[in-house]
Amino acid sequence: MVDDSLLTRRRVMNLGFRTMLGVAGASIARRPGQFHSSASKPDRVASGQVSLKQRAASKGLIFGAASRYQDLRSNPNLAAALVKDCALLVPEWELKWSAGSALLRPSPDDFDFRKADWMANFAQTHQLLFQGHTLVWHLSLPHWFAKTVHAQNAEQILSQHIQRLVQHYRGRIHSWCVVNEAIAYDPRQGRSDGLQESPWLAFLGPEYLDLSFRMAAQADPRALLFYNDYGLDYDNPLDESKRRAVLKLLERLKAQGTPIHALGIQAHLRGEATDFNPRKLREFLREVAGLGLKIMITELDVNDLRLPANENTRDARVADVYEAYLTTVLDEPAVISVITWGLSDRYTYLAEDLSRIQGRDVRPLPLDRNLQAKPAWRAIAQALDQAPHR
Ligand code: XIL
Repeated sequence: MVDDSLLTRRRVMNLGFRTMLGVAGASIARRPGQFHSSASKPDRVASGQVSLKQRAASKGLIFGAASRYQDLRSNPNLAAALVKDCALLVPEWELKWSAGSALLRPSPDDFDFRKADWMANFAQTHQLLFQGHTLVWHLSLPHWFAKTVHAQNAEQILSQHIQRLVQHYRGRIHSWCVVNEAIAYDPRQGRSDGLQESPWLAFLGPEYLDLSFRMAAQADPRALLFYNDYGLDYDNPLDESKRRAVLKLLERLKAQGTPIHALGIQAHLRGEATDFNPRKLREFLREVAGLGLKIMITELDVNDLRLPANENTRDARVADVYEAYLTTVLDEPAVISVITWGLSDRYTYLAEDLSRIQGRDVRPLPLDRNLQAKPAWRAIAQALDQAPHR
């Protein structure tokens, strides 16, 4: 079966990384919450000697992060920190049709791979796996899209896009986010299948999902292909309906023989949340794994916007959230990777949030603005150390 051989190849790749990294079995015994006082600093330095990627690899897991061309290129310290802690890189903008200053599709007939290629080369040079994000999404579409794409040419444009990108990185990519966020924010409203309104749905119908995966598999039969979504983490009616809708979608795709290999759980977490229920999440992961799918945590961060202003309090709470979440998900053997959406608080998309409290920096990621490990880093390290072997 395609799935089995693919996963075997990935496993070999993981094991290869383990050997390559010569993993040390250091452990940390303290809880992240204990590290919000300055007295904890010496310990933090000592435990920082074993990187997150080494700790993950020793469990057969992959740790990685998203980053942007402009940040990685302009800040050698960020590049060094990323190479130190990560075994996988995801371009945050550069493989979207159009995002920020990265215009992969400046016009209907042009592809500009320069920024994405720089990132792929960076990954290759530093022996990082490379993950593609994202082929099919209702957002980050270029300005020409609305006036150019219609029901008659949508399939051809989609196929051209997927073929071009997937072939371009064939042999250099670990995994592709093929479809992103296809289920609506609130699946209880709108369509009975919970699908998000999008040009692809409007022009091609619900079959656009299966079609996209088939096109990607044809262009690169070796890449791990996944569906990615958000709002799956908490125990409330909204997230529960999202979990049900995603599960139904995955069941439908598997029943159709769609070449899908994994679910990506974005995991944009909320620092103030009180409705995290490890048992509920764990059950969902089991159900997904029961479909024969792997699971990746693809965009992990912890939003601290609604936490108290005191930095130490915020850092301690954010760390606790990381630890509780990762301890839960890493208990599921189908989970193969943990990827944070950025690595340093200096470069986080949460800083783009307009509702942000003026004058207060957000601190959602493992490293602070000066690339120093925060309690969140230690919490991730600890969760990785305590995770069962794959
Ligand atoms: C975000 C980027 O981080 C932002 O810089 C950009 O402006 C918008 O997109 N879910 C996803 C990611 O799948 O692509 C999003 O990334 C964050 C939410």
